[in-house]
Amino acid sequence: MIPTPHIEARSKDVFAKTVLMPGDPLRAEFIAKTYLENVEKVNNVRNMFAFTGYYKGKKVTVMGSGMGMPSIGIYSYELFKFYDVDTIIRVGSCGSYTESAKIYDVIVVNEAYSESSYAKVAFNYQENILESTKNVVDELNDAAKRLNIDVINSRIHSSDVFYRHHGDVFVDVRDKYNCVAVEMESFALFANAKYLGKNAGCILTVSDSLVTHEATTSEERQKSFNKMMEIALEAVK
Ligand code: HPA
Repeated sequence: MIPTPHIEARSKDVFAKTVLMPGDPLRAEFIAKTYLENVEKVNNVRNMFAFTGYYKGKKVTVMGSGMGMPSIGIYSYELFKFYDVDTIIRVGSCGSYTESAKIYDVIVVNEAYSESSYAKVAFNYQENILESTKNVVDELNDAAKRLNIDVINSRIHSSDVFYRHHGDVFVDVRDKYNCVAVEMESFALFANAKYLGKNAGCILTVSDSLVTHEATTSEERQKSFNKMMEIALEAVK
């Protein structure tokens, strides 16, 4: 069933077997132009740009996911199901829930906790914690080791809500579910991969802290973003 309602490519071959997904489609463009060779744009629908190119000879696609689980849920499902993509690695940012995850740290996600109904509604999964694929986690950790970059391995919170003014804001989730940071997409990506028998992972940089409210500089943000991208690109098979 290609093209799909949200991806216009008429051939599966224009996508690599591994897709890296930042939230922002302009980030996808930046990554493709900065890191890849022989780049071809393979999706324009809704400006959710996708680019396929080569990193050290390995074919890789970079595509925006949009923000939130409904959005990444659509794009990752269509890539897995209709374009024969094997592996999707989200490359994103997160807000830290604890001083042990500092601004600019890089997190390799092992599990995502969520109060989202996505997995239950889509697949009748009852779990509120879903795992990333072990092989993908191992490949990200191995790549980080080769590059000599420290990473934190942990569970994160996939939230449906960015502006939250109810309850203990984040302390309840952090303490009850052991989440070091919050983002808004991984749980849906992991649910799709589990259902479709595919591989999914997620690597994040800490862009802000809900604990210390530290200010970040664009230069430091770019540096930690580069570290994360090098790990993700090295991990592509
Ligand atoms: N909340 C949710 N998602 C995020 C945040 C946050 O504070 N920072 C980066 N992604």
